[in-house]
Amino acid sequence: MKRKVLVTGAAGFIGSRLSSHLQTLGYKVVATDIYESKNQFFDVGDSHHLYLQKLRQDRIEHFLRRQDIEYVTCDISHQASVDHLFRRVCPDVVVHLAAQAGVRHSVKAPMDFVKSNLMGFAHVLECCQQFNVEEFLYASSSSVYGARTNAPFSETDRIDRPESFYAATKMANEAMAFSYYSQYKTPSLGMRFFTVYGPWGRPDMAPMLFAEKIRRRQPIQLFGNGLLKRDFTYVGDTVFAITRMIELGVSKSKANIVNVGHANPIQVTEFVQTLSECLDMTPVIELAPMQVSDVPLTCSNDEKLSSLIGEWPHTPLKEGLTNMVHWLSERHH
Ligand SMILES: NC(=O)c1ccc[n+]([C@@H]2O[C@H](COP(=O)([O-])OP(=O)(O)OC[C@H]3O[C@@H](n4cnc5c(N)ncnc54)[C@H](O)[C@@H]3O)[C@@H](O)[C@H]2O)c1
Repeated sequence: MKRKVLVTGAAGFIGSRLSSHLQTLGYKVVATDIYESKNQFFDVGDSHHLYLQKLRQDRIEHFLRRQDIEYVTCDISHQASVDHLFRRVCPDVVVHLAAQAGVRHSVKAPMDFVKSNLMGFAHVLECCQQFNVEEFLYASSSSVYGARTNAPFSETDRIDRPESFYAATKMANEAMAFSYYSQYKTPSLGMRFFTVYGPWGRPDMAPMLFAEKIRRRQPIQLFGNGLLKRDFTYVGDTVFAITRMIELGVSKSKANIVNVGHANPIQVTEFVQTLSECLDMTPVIELAPMQVSDVPLTCSNDEKLSSLIGEWPHTPLKEGLTNMVHWLSERHH
């Protein structure tokens, strides 16, 4: 019988692509997000949020309207809704990606993060325990490593200095998952993602934000005077890693944490240079100081991931950005 996977945050960047990939591999996928699947727009009054709603609905249309994918609207901050969903679906595997995901937004509106990232996470975790879910994988983040320059970052390193409230919520998620293992033997795997980019990406993240601005010949601001370094991970590589971890059942026996990144940090100026070559345009660059919540470097030690799943793909930055730019120009047409 086909195993049933519940993917939360499925209208999001990583969740939409993961859901469709799992479906092609023969899983029965239940995809859930707070968004309605119909073309309904909340009146949020600003163009960024309207764009975001449209993007999420387009992802639902593109990735999730398929046989063997059921799309369900559910707000994970409502305990009764999450409980109802689990009771009806009885998933074998849960991949929990739903969250408020922007570091900078957590400086402006930390309370938004309490609902989805703390309450929502607790509701999903509790249901995994109650309904004896075999495999529970959830999204953590490289931001838990804080502002440090000694690299690479390993899962055994101390993490106790979050630079943003977002990072604090992800650290809390890891602690909550560990406590559920101690109390109830609920197994889990926290996946620390490192700056995921690619087609259908998030408009609030640097790759898409910069690409849009360069296309419009608007100046782009490079914080930290362009010296920040990020371990960019192509979305296809991320989805491959998650899928392999499900297939191999690596999350089954304990509470565990793993980095999902390549140990290949790239300076933001070099990143912009490569992006501009892909766009065949010259960027207008403004250097700016570090922002509150920024960290100077992210760099994943991926030895643990490799020991769990073996070799995993490393799409070169130029190839990944070419795919992203191609998607962007098709979307604008
Ligand atoms: N993209 C990255 O580079 C990156 C890096 C580190 C960690 N992460 C984490 O990975 C996960 C997926 O990231 P993404 O880039 O796809 O983000 P995304 O914002 O595209 O997707 C998150 C989804 O969660 C949904 N959501 C938020 N609150 C919800 C609620 N209360 N109920 C139901 N759904 C809700 C949103 O509607 C959205 O579709 C997130 O947990 C994020 O924090 C991402």
